[in-house]
Amino acid sequence: MANDTLTIKDNRTGKEYEVPIENDTIKAMDLRQIKVNDADFGMMSYDPGFKNTANTKSTITLVDGGNGILRYRGYPIEQLAESSTFLEVAYLILNGELPSKDAYEKWVYDITHHTIVHENIKDLMSAFRYDAHPMGMFISTVAALSTFYSDSGDIFNEEARDLNITRLIAKVPTIAAFSYRHLMGFPYKLPDNNLSYTGNFLSMMFKMAELRYEPNPALERALDVLFILHADHEQNCSTTTMRTIGSSQADPYSALAGAAGALYGPLHGGANEKVLRMLREIGDVKNVPDYVERAKKGEFRLMGFGHRVYKNYDPRAKFIKKVAEDVFEVTGRSPLIDIAVELERIALEDDYFVERKLYPNVDFYSGIIYEAMGFPVSIFPVLFAVPRTVGWLAQWQEMLADKEQPIARPRQVYLGEGERDYVAMDKR
Ligand code: ACO
Repeated sequence: MANDTLTIKDNRTGKEYEVPIENDTIKAMDLRQIKVNDADFGMMSYDPGFKNTANTKSTITLVDGGNGILRYRGYPIEQLAESSTFLEVAYLILNGELPSKDAYEKWVYDITHHTIVHENIKDLMSAFRYDAHPMGMFISTVAALSTFYSDSGDIFNEEARDLNITRLIAKVPTIAAFSYRHLMGFPYKLPDNNLSYTGNFLSMMFKMAELRYEPNPALERALDVLFILHADHEQNCSTTTMRTIGSSQADPYSALAGAAGALYGPLHGGANEKVLRMLREIGDVKNVPDYVERAKKGEFRLMGFGHRVYKNYDPRAKFIKKVAEDVFEVTGRSPLIDIAVELERIALEDDYFVERKLYPNVDFYSGIIYEAMGFPVSIFPVLFAVPRTVGWLAQWQEMLADKEQPIARPRQVYLGEGERDYVAMDKR
């Protein structure tokens, strides 16, 4: 008998089955042969939330949650955050290798020259209510973009696909900035092609009456690093949504709008917004112990704590603490950081959090940095969606090329009523 197989004995029938093991997994479809009788549908695996189900093979991002490791295409996140730029990392994630100088310059040029949106996008965004949440505006506007490009659904045409990927990466900061300007009641500002990706984003956000906006280099770099840290995170909730929608061969704008919708939730990318609101609610370092006790009683969760995959310190959260110090040197120290540090200290010493391996995640400190940089709280999930656009697109592109990926369509265990006859309303 080969070693790389799994023997399963069905005690209902006494029958044994041998299924192949590949990459430490078995194929769920191999379970289907396990039947009590010929009429039996066959065995399935039951896995709510996909806690132990690999949905794909991927070569993009490695998250080793037990050891607190994150790598894009093999490169450790710490090295990329230290030495690379967001657009270089975007190229790496999408193409698998770091770019040559020429390839990098072309890539930056292409992104820079696709940042403008159609004038009708402005009209569309102006139609939102004055207090619309920026993430709602972002999601809807990204979806609307598909209607502006007749080739958006031409997903198996490499040229069209690359162009739409470029468009999306180039335009998401513009849409994000417009959503902020709408919220504030400020006029929309056009992109400035002389600035970097993040410098231009800051310009579109914060430029007022001055002729040219000069981003602070330390803040521009801090934002670039934050974007690198958020660029991809393998098969999380929003990426799975991107792949699921993409598996029906929908255009990338529609799929990305869905992914952004998944990111919006407070258990995912909406957590950074909730962290800030939580820290404000705590209000003072002296209130931290009481707040932690209430979280332990199950009154609420500590936002920015815990992760489905990391059962160790999130490596992004470690790096973000350093970024926070760089930002505070420019902006002054946020009073919320002291509450955050105390919350982390108490939680990491507490048995409840230790036993459950609950560590601060990427969202715990990012919100404090964004606030210090002048971003309003409600735009935080949008600040997550902008860099994650790269990861979503890379994962979508990988899925399209993967011959093993059919349309996503999970099974269910039906526990409802058996067949019964309709009862007229006056007889119920
Ligand atoms: N505060 C208090 N208790 C928590 C927390 C928390 N933040 N997170 C998990 N727990 C507890 C649960 O109550 C549960 O305890 P129990 O075993 O006594 O029932 C245990 O830890 C395991 O929790 P699960 O919900 O099973 O863990 P899961 O992997 O499903 O959830 C999640 C992960 C959603 C991130 C969760 O930790 C959470 O809700 N965190 C707060 C929200 C947050 O910060 N989300 C951002 C995630 S990072 C990102 O998306 C970028």
